Amino acid sequence: MRTIRYGGDYNPEQWPEEVWHEDVRLMKEAGVNLVSLGVFNWGIIEPAPGEYDFTGLDRSIELLHENGIGVNLGTPTSSPPAWLRRAHPEIRLVDVDGRTLAGGTRHGVCPSSPAYGDACANIVEQLAARYGSHPAVELWHVHNEYGWANLECYCKVSERAFHRWLEDRYGEIDRLNDAWGTAFWGIVYRSFDQIEAPAAAPPGVNPALLLDWKRFSGEAHLANYRVQREIIARHSDAPATTNFMIPNCEGMDYWRWAEAVDVVSNNHYLVAERPENHIELSMSADLARGVAGGPWMVMEHSTSAVNWQARNLAKTTGEMRRNSLTHLARGADGLMFFQWRASRSGAEKFHSAMLPHGGTDTQVWRDVVELGGDLKRLSGVVGAEVEAEVAVLWDWESWWALELEWRPSVELEFRERVEAYYSSLWRQHVTVDFAHPESDLSRYKLVVAPSSYLLTAEAGKNLRGYVEKGGHLIVSYFSGVVDEHDTVHAGAHPGALRDVLGLWVEEFHPLPEDGSLTLDSSARGRIWSERIRLEGAEAAARFADGPDAGHPAITRHRLGRGTAWYAATALDDATGLRGLLAEALDRAEVARVDGVPEQVEIVRRGPACFLINHSDQDVSVPGLRGVDALDGTAYDGEVAIAAGAVVIVHTTGDTPPHLP
Ligand code: GLA
Repeated sequence: MRTIRYGGDYNPEQWPEEVWHEDVRLMKEAGVNLVSLGVFNWGIIEPAPGEYDFTGLDRSIELLHENGIGVNLGTPTSSPPAWLRRAHPEIRLVDVDGRTLAGGTRHGVCPSSPAYGDACANIVEQLAARYGSHPAVELWHVHNEYGWANLECYCKVSERAFHRWLEDRYGEIDRLNDAWGTAFWGIVYRSFDQIEAPAAAPPGVNPALLLDWKRFSGEAHLANYRVQREIIARHSDAPATTNFMIPNCEGMDYWRWAEAVDVVSNNHYLVAERPENHIELSMSADLARGVAGGPWMVMEHSTSAVNWQARNLAKTTGEMRRNSLTHLARGADGLMFFQWRASRSGAEKFHSAMLPHGGTDTQVWRDVVELGGDLKRLSGVVGAEVEAEVAVLWDWESWWALELEWRPSVELEFRERVEAYYSSLWRQHVTVDFAHPESDLSRYKLVVAPSSYLLTAEAGKNLRGYVEKGGHLIVSYFSGVVDEHDTVHAGAHPGALRDVLGLWVEEFHPLPEDGSLTLDSSARGRIWSERIRLEGAEAAARFADGPDAGHPAITRHRLGRGTAWYAATALDDATGLRGLLAEALDRAEVARVDGVPEQVEIVRRGPACFLINHSDQDVSVPGLRGVDALDGTAYDGEVAIAAGAVVIVHTTGDTPPHLP
């Protein structure tokens, strides 16, 4: 159905029933067509083991259904009831320091616990059997934020599950010893059960063990999702999802999760005090679209302040609208909020909602109603693809590996480099996809690898093939260094990319804290320098000072029909990175937008061109022809966008090709 899903988490169990009638009336006023119900109600629908009370849930589903509001039905397993913890104390989460964590909140359970798993399977069976064919149930909201506060559990049950996982992966213990390089320090294992869960330990724990522990921990949650999904499938044809936390959950490999869900849904919250946080929001949306391989939905964002940051700044005028429309522009087919009605009790009473404590005579409510109305007029974008000619590589495993202990510099951070490159492209109005390094990259004119420390030999081959066939590639420093076990590729760095980049690295020269350097192009760099030895590439710029003065800093390598660039320092955007990207974009013939101010986000999705003005200046964008998607204004070349406003143009055929 070509309808943008609009709504939020709905918790009628927190309110007397007369309030529910007001809820549905106001939902209709706001254009709400989907609510997430029952996400945290386990202790209410199963008050004691095996005793069920579905009266409230039955009634609220009926009420919503009678009013034409769809239900995204939650499975409440992220908030186990108090009785379960008492009956099975072994389900309690054990943290990295070996502390058993108390209850009184959600999430604190061991994901590998059989007792917890059985109780989850039982309540999901009850729900799926009862509501599986209810016409109101459009979507299943499985669990909530898998791994949010219990990503890793270090209890003995988890340790035993880890042994089984390792046995499945390696078959024989000596294959594990080889893969982990356990000859180092002689910490060789003679059987799987000798391996300890990597709880707090003296420094220098085998990084291959830590990497596999991260894989195991994420997969324990994914296995739990799959169990629930299978139960639901026996009773219901409705699709299922679980809300991801892209890009802020480091621990989940969402490329893998995306294969398991029917619809990718994501929760995104701005860090309110962060400068240009709207760029990070765009990145989150592009990454959600990337893992989904197409349209996706926002399961949660906020109308205004959250309650869990140090200072919970309210959104400024128009900010919620800009945020929402950025998600829509970048592929979301649904825009949901946490939450419908602000709660009065509990931990989240200072979190914003669609309906604030202050009721309907509030700016938040007026904005919610306005957005709901606009979304009805924008339903033409549902299902439409976002076109991107540039891909940025993103790999959670590389993120994990890069930030383990004892790296050449603590300033080697995955997101720092990805965001540097992403933001620079954003400021140049270039829409990007995110892609996995082993995926088919042939449709992209330019591929950017800002932080690919862990790169398998397969990925290296993939990138080489991409360049040879005419692709353009930019790689940043400390990439292609290790394989999937954190083992250095044989020979000189960057092993997986040496032939693609046409160079090798003699020695790393990380800079001291606050150190900086300059290039002969007058670009500035931070964090990193290294001694590059050319082996086919040419130097596009050299270090003018620092430990590698006179040696190459930016290189270019023609290989087959394509070109690969390498940047050996953390290039400052204004003096270096922007120029490097611009050169590569030009050579790759990536379509660019001219004459648009930097803080105007411009994204094309299907027939619609979204122009989102993040600046406090009125601006005008030239060269657009079409019709305003919201008010029908005809544009013939010039579109004015007030400070902080959004204009969406349904473009017509004669719009010049330089527009995205
Ligand atoms: C997460 C959770 C929600 C709520 C919000 C608050 O996204 O999924 O239940 O706690 O955070 O921002």
